[in-house]
Amino acid sequence: MHPGFGVYIHIPFCAKKCDYCAFATFTDRHQLTSDYLGALRTHIQRSVANQMPKATSVFIGGGTPTLVPADELMSVLAEIPLASGAEVTVECNPDDVTAEMMRTFRSSGVNRVSIGVQSTVEHVLGSLGRTHDPENVQRSVRFAKEAGFETFNLDIIYGAAGETLDDWSKTLIDVVALDPPHVSAYGLTVEANTVLATQPDRHPDDDDQADKYLLCDDMMSSHGLNNYEISNWAKSGHECKHNSLYWQQGNYEGFGSAAHAHLNGRRWWNVRTPERYIELVNAGESPESSSETLDAKTSKREMLQLLVRTREGVPLGSFSDADLEEMSELLECQNDRIVLTRSGRLLANEVALRLIDEI
Ligand SMILES: C[S@@+](CC[C@H](N)C(=O)[O-])C[C@H]1O[C@@H](n2cnc3c(N)ncnc32)[C@H](O)[C@@H]1O
Ligand code: SF4
Repeated sequence: MHPGFGVYIHIPFCAKKCDYCAFATFTDRHQLTSDYLGALRTHIQRSVANQMPKATSVFIGGGTPTLVPADELMSVLAEIPLASGAEVTVECNPDDVTAEMMRTFRSSGVNRVSIGVQSTVEHVLGSLGRTHDPENVQRSVRFAKEAGFETFNLDIIYGAAGETLDDWSKTLIDVVALDPPHVSAYGLTVEANTVLATQPDRHPDDDDQADKYLLCDDMMSSHGLNNYEISNWAKSGHECKHNSLYWQQGNYEGFGSAAHAHLNGRRWWNVRTPERYIELVNAGESPESSSETLDAKTSKREMLQLLVRTREGVPLGSFSDADLEEMSELLECQNDRIVLTRSGRLLANEVALRLIDEI
């Protein structure tokens, strides 16, 4: 298991709900901001008093952390004891980013920002139900660099209705022109209970997404960004520690509504709405909504399913000889590990179904 300890903080507010997003975020509860941040501080203080380990990574995500006043957000971060060299990331929406916000983050210990670019083509952003102006992406990156961020991530999405291969190519060209040390590119997925789910004519096409994935991989590789997990590319040394901890089944605490946590095989998640979270924390009660404990076999299976998606791959023996032979185009052996080939990355879910249980 991963030796580090992660902290995830969820900020459940958004200016507008994107058509494809099923995350626990709300557009009508900004008036709760101050009480919510107060509850986060109280909850963190309690865990610290309860011997919470120093964090090797912190991820402030959402929702939209940049909708909250930066100095107040940083007062929450200040409650978390950090291990030396900890990675501290804040997710940013390009419309909200200001030079002052980036300076406040940087001087308060944030050392990585993750900017939600999604696309640099206006009609594609419109098709995703996004509000931001593509110009704001360049400005946000400039402010981040000027504030001294040596590493940052750009998030992009492929497969929106009406997005041509040329549109996607333009997004990729614009993204690499910003010289990002890390890029996450996600295939648009249809999640239940979203606007997108109710409109089948806008659903992504598998073949189109496969072409766009390969184009993305080519573009990233030719700009020195190496694929280290199916959807993630980084320059050497800029891989995201927090995500790597998730992929290696590390321990992490989750603060805020709908945040998930994991400690030695027990997983739990908090109540979904910010008002319920505030209420429970202020009453001195646990905001935990539900939990599950993984048995050794399920835990091992999940670990292999996560690892097979990474550059590290899985141990020899994780697949039967017959499956290895049948999937010879999709899997290859590298330094005593089995890793996905480029075509294998396109079919990772199908490949993962063939992992052997009993090892
Ligand atoms: C939940 S958002 C939070 C950060 C920020 N609000 C934003 O939108 O960039 C984190 C990432 O998940 C992506 N995401 C959310 N739902 C998705 C979906 N259905 N398919 C693909 N990516 C998705 C977002 O676009 C974003 O890049
Ligand atoms: S994708 Fe980001 S901005 Fe859009 S609704 Fe989800 S969390 Fe909010």
